[in-house]
Amino acid sequence: MEHVADAFGRPLRDLRISVTDRCNFRCTYCMPKTVFGHDHRFLDRRELLSFEEITRVAKTAVGLGVEKLRLTGGEPLVRVELERLISMLAELGVEVTLTTNASLLPRKAQLLKDAGLTRITVSLDAMDDETFRKMNDVDFPVERVLEGIAAAATAGLPVKVNSVVKRGVNEDQIVPLARYFREHGHVLRFIEFMDVGATNGWRMDQVVPAAEIVETINREFPIVPTDPHYRGEVAKRWSYADGSGEIGVIASVTEPFCGDCSRARLSAEGKLYTCLFAVRGHDLRALIRDGASDADLADRLAGIWRVRGDRYSELRSEATFDSSKDEPRVEMSYIGG
Ligand code: GTP
Ligand code: 5AD
Ligand code: SF4
Ligand code: SF4
Repeated sequence: MEHVADAFGRPLRDLRISVTDRCNFRCTYCMPKTVFGHDHRFLDRRELLSFEEITRVAKTAVGLGVEKLRLTGGEPLVRVELERLISMLAELGVEVTLTTNASLLPRKAQLLKDAGLTRITVSLDAMDDETFRKMNDVDFPVERVLEGIAAAATAGLPVKVNSVVKRGVNEDQIVPLARYFREHGHVLRFIEFMDVGATNGWRMDQVVPAAEIVETINREFPIVPTDPHYRGEVAKRWSYADGSGEIGVIASVTEPFCGDCSRARLSAEGKLYTCLFAVRGHDLRALIRDGASDADLADRLAGIWRVRGDRYSELRSEATFDSSKDEPRVEMSYIGG
């Protein structure tokens, strides 16, 4: 099958696969404990794609040009025997990465590495224990995330760390996080708080712009801009002037990067989304369970991608944009970070 391009000529390079919508954390910016007075409703186990079904979709996507598979959630490590899926995906010959809160890494890291995981991204929003416990809202200590990161590094997995910055909540953690991870040799990326989903009560005044994050670090540890690794890289890279590594900033609010966006997302129940901010997905599970051939599946995927015109983050920046009348967007814990 030929590689595909969407309506703006953007190729399909990255497939992000949510393996579960469940999580053992309740980060306030992602899955706040109560939503309109209710707790979250999760997918039933029977609704989830099996590992075989996920692998089929991934294989089809690789045939259309995908070079990187990223497993997400919810928290992907709460899905039983995730390492079995990783070993199946590793056979496709492309990068297989994972985004996790690290809570289960101490016992899982070596299994993941042995199964063929290429690298790992860990979320950690603060070095200060009280701030972090408040943000994850399940009283999870920083120390245990650091243990998870150490376990991954010991197993030989390259580690990146992601921190979402929220005004008035953890902006005082920017420098402590930078200090710790430059000393430990892991790439740290700061993410602007985004208006994903419909439940996190996002407001523009809670966003700390990437430019301000960069300035804050630069005052303490001088940094210089660095070229991207690849076209469409989400994070803008900065290197410490003294050679002690690099950081990244993901400015999806103040400097949207839709122009190069080559990412598709597969929900745990098999819906394909062509944008993080989509309100609707394309049901691949029905197609698969109806006995579609490999060629049918490839045609469907290519067809969805070819007509794709998403550029939500760019539209959000335009003055005439008003999302208040839109249908509710799907949650990040459902669609995958
Ligand atoms: P690398 O392979 O390490 O470069 O990963 P990546 O740059 O794809 O980053 P990662 O998957 O760790 O994503 C980091 C964060 O960036 C996510 O958790 C999201 O918050 C945000 N992000 C990633 N992709 C998109 C996207 O397509 N749109 C928007 N608006 N934000 C995104
Ligand atoms: N804004 C920015 N990033 C978010 N994430 C989840 N919710 C948000 C949000 N509202 C990202 C975090 C976390 C990953 C799983 O999802 O980066 O590390
Ligand atoms: Fe769970 Fe990650 Fe969402 Fe936090 S950001 S609630 S760890 S899925
Ligand atoms: Fe891609 Fe949508 Fe994010 Fe823009 S807003 S970068 S199109 S996922």
